[in-house]
Amino acid sequence: MFANRAPSKSILAAMLIAASFTPALLSAQKASPVAPRRALVESVVREAYDKFKTDTNGKNADYIPYLAQADSKLFGIAIVTTDNQVLTLGDVNYSFSIQSISKVFTLALAMEELGPDKVFEKVGSEPTGRPFNSPLAVVDMPSHTGNPFVNAGAIATTSLISGKDANEKWNKILEFYSKAAGEKLKLIDEVYKSEAATNTGNKALSYLLAKYDRIYADPFESVDVYTKQCSVGVNAAQLARMGATLANNGINPATGEQVVKRENIPEILSTMVVAGLYDGSGGWAWHVGLPAKSGVGGGIVAIVPGKGAIAVFAPPLDEAGNSVKAQKVIDYVAERLNYNLFSPASVGLK
Ligand code: DON
Repeated sequence: MFANRAPSKSILAAMLIAASFTPALLSAQKASPVAPRRALVESVVREAYDKFKTDTNGKNADYIPYLAQADSKLFGIAIVTTDNQVLTLGDVNYSFSIQSISKVFTLALAMEELGPDKVFEKVGSEPTGRPFNSPLAVVDMPSHTGNPFVNAGAIATTSLISGKDANEKWNKILEFYSKAAGEKLKLIDEVYKSEAATNTGNKALSYLLAKYDRIYADPFESVDVYTKQCSVGVNAAQLARMGATLANNGINPATGEQVVKRENIPEILSTMVVAGLYDGSGGWAWHVGLPAKSGVGGGIVAIVPGKGAIAVFAPPLDEAGNSVKAQKVIDYVAERLNYNLFSPASVGLK
């Protein structure tokens, strides 16, 4: 029988050659016809790093004392592709707080638990056109919550996560983020303490939401879990892998685990387009054309669906709370590699 036949010498040799070249063969098979080659990506990332390294625009977030004293020269770039190739440059081992980028993954978890329709009904997905911590948006917006990425909508989204107490909810959130990163993530305790001691604005938002029946668990307990989720530490490569999980239809490219339901990806990415950079989202969509999310810790992750994600970390922020260098690097890289989703070039059309 065929199954019992020992392979001939030439077949064995072919198998050995194939085995030693497997990663290259696999990536050659999987490579998108419009995906740029690694050498090109490396040189473009290096150019961006050199060009913006000395940019001193923006300033660290100062309303969270821990963030105010972070070294504003820190600068790291990471790309993770959907076939788990990793490219890093700069301060990529430094663990910074994920801050608002956490909101993407808590949204994903809420959708896992409740489904997209329920989450849309309870939180919505409209840009507010106001700063991320605006109480006026809560009063003015018909939904009050706005969207899952402004603080009010994010606290409401966190309040949707099930669990017998705050601790169980927090552990579930941390575990979910860790699955998206493909490794165990940890709370940065000093960030949590620093923010928990100063987050009166978020507590006020949570009570305002309660007035409109738009928070779904105890308001202060929800703010506390939310503050912990914002204080999770990630380095640039971990953040890029979390993004690559979204780019890869919810499957972590390193572990192969389906972390986010495939059918929930479009709602998550579209919310990133309309609100990922707050009141900077319109300009970002116009210039860069990628779903992205920023955090006041200085991180931004941008998703290139089907291809991968780029994460950049540099603490100084613009007026809207988005890392200045991270925006410039992603803009530079996306333009040179034709990543803009709305450009015909991104699908191989000239
Ligand atoms: O609640 C806050 O204000 C922070 N923990 C998160 C805000 C944030 O990251 C906004 N992002 N650009």
